Amino acid sequence: MAKEKTLQDLFHDTLKDIYFAEKKILGTLPKMAKAAQSEELKAAFEKHRKQTEGHVARLEKVFKIIDKKPQGKTCAAIIGITDEGAEIMDEYKKMPALDAGLLAAAQAVEHYEISRYGTLRTWAEELGYQDAANLLQQTLDEEEETDKELSELAETAVNIAAEALNEAAE
Ligand SMILES: [Fe+2]
Ligand SMILES: [Fe+2]
Repeated sequence: MAKEKTLQDLFHDTLKDIYFAEKKILGTLPKMAKAAQSEELKAAFEKHRKQTEGHVARLEKVFKIIDKKPQGKTCAAIIGITDEGAEIMDEYKKMPALDAGLLAAAQAVEHYEISRYGTLRTWAEELGYQDAANLLQQTLDEEEETDKELSELAETAVNIAAEALNEAAE
C-alpha cells in the first residue's frame, strides 16, 4: 500500500512549490524592471527583487527547521503567470498601456505568493513549527506590502494609458 500522506508531506511539497516560484520570480523581476517605462515602477521591481532574495533565504531556513534540504518542485502556476507577463512585455513593448499590463502581471504574482504563504504559515502553526510560521509571516507581510505599493502605482499607470486613449480619440 502507498505510504499515507500527511499534512507534514503537504507542507514539505508546498514549500518546494513556493521555493521554485521564488527562484523563478528572481529571474523575472530584472526583466520587468528593464521593461517598465516609469522610473517608480522600475524602482519598485528592483526593490522587490532584493526582498525576493530574502524570501529565498527564509525558505531555506524553513527547510532546515523541518530537517530537509532546500529543493524546488516545478510550479505550473507561476510558470503560467510569468509567461503571461512575458507576453505583455512582448506585445505591449513601448505602448502606452505597457506599465498597466506589467503591474497587472506583477500583482498576479503577488497574489499567488500571498495565497501560498498564508496557507504555509497556517500549516506550520498547525504542525508546531512556530519559528517557521514566524519566518513565513515575515515574507507574507512583505508580499502584502508590495501588493499595496503596486496598487498605488497602478493608478498612475492606468491614468497614463487612459490619457493616450483620449489623445487617440481626438
Ligand atoms: Fe516572494
Ligand atoms: Fe513577491
